[in-house]
Amino acid sequence: MPRLTFLPDGKTIDVRPGTTVLAAARQAGVGVRTRCGGVAGCLMCKVKVLEPDRVSPPTESERRKMGDAVDGERLACQTKAAGDATIVVPEDPLKAAVRRQLERQKEDDALW
Ligand code: FES
Repeated sequence: MPRLTFLPDGKTIDVRPGTTVLAAARQAGVGVRTRCGGVAGCLMCKVKVLEPDRVSPPTESERRKMGDAVDGERLACQTKAAGDATIVVPEDPLKAAVRRQLERQKEDDALW
């Protein structure tokens, strides 16, 4: 049974072979952004697979949308678990912007 580990949360889940990374992330309580419902339409579910040989090869629709995968980048909705793998989920852009603003504000406050 493949074991997927999601970074940076560090959450791990055992899934049946063939389970999509998106479904596994949801089961593990890891937030992966989506808009299209998992049909390779929105490209919002991009993740990085650190062991690309332990997941399914890119589907035709994924290849059409993503071209040649760069540095293990895959669509979570199209990628299926085949073995133990580590998945890096990018930070939500809105949360990242808020975090950066809070960090800047904290630095400014420290100057006074
Ligand atoms: S959920 Fe839209 S491309 Fe994967």
